[in-house]
Amino acid sequence: VALRPLRVRDGPAWRAVRERNRDWLRPWEATSPDGSVDVPSFRSMVRRLQREARLGLTMPFVVTYEGPLVGQLNVGGITWGSFRSAHVGYWIDQAYAGRGIMPLSLALVTDHLLLRTGLHRVEVNIRPENTASVRVVEKLGYRDEGLRLRMLHIDGDWRDHRSFALTVEELPPDGLVAAWRARSHSGP
Ligand SMILES: CC(C)(COP(=O)(O)OP(=O)(O)OC[C@H]1O[C@@H](n2cnc3c(N)ncnc32)[C@H](O)[C@@H]1OP(=O)(O)O)[C@@H](O)C(=O)NCCC(=O)NCCS
Repeated sequence: VALRPLRVRDGPAWRAVRERNRDWLRPWEATSPDGSVDVPSFRSMVRRLQREARLGLTMPFVVTYEGPLVGQLNVGGITWGSFRSAHVGYWIDQAYAGRGIMPLSLALVTDHLLLRTGLHRVEVNIRPENTASVRVVEKLGYRDEGLRLRMLHIDGDWRDHRSFALTVEELPPDGLVAAWRARSHSGP
């Protein structure tokens, strides 16, 4: 499992995965509150994310598994000053679900943000119905911060979200990746 920056030349692979997974992703996808159904082209989405990345506001990653692109993980809302916080969103190709790829990806990014980048807090917001995603943060020890009503416009309406977060003080001594690996190798 590896993470690397999203690039314009990921277009064909990204579009193919998204096309195959349209129904799988729809209930969890951000939508426009003003009802606009204009989806930006892949190229303009990447260019916008790259502009925001240069400003230090976002880190758009693709998730690869043994080479090919299998998902996406975006760090957004990076805020410095006295907050030093960011939020993370992610999805994976249904064909690769259930193998622990996203927990490891989120562990990699959490360690990067809290131990290398110097942020203090990482947040993940999840619809309560999304039990698979709740499992991802639970497995990594993210703390439940409660329910935020009508927080994000998802799949055509304002949806409640559960917020999960970690601050640097809560990280295991060697970081989340080490803890995840130890846990994965200690099974029956
Ligand atoms: C949420 C998501 C990223 C999880 O990624 P993942 O790499 O499959 O994570 P895991 O392997 O840890 O599996 C998480 C849970 O998915 C469920 N799961 C297991 N195998 C599965 C499969 N083949 N298909 C679907 N779900 C499966 C299980 O409930 C599992 O929890 P468990 O390990 O306690 O049994 C992925 O399900 C996904 O992309 N869903 C659609 C988009 C989405 O919900 N994004 C997040 C929005 S907040």
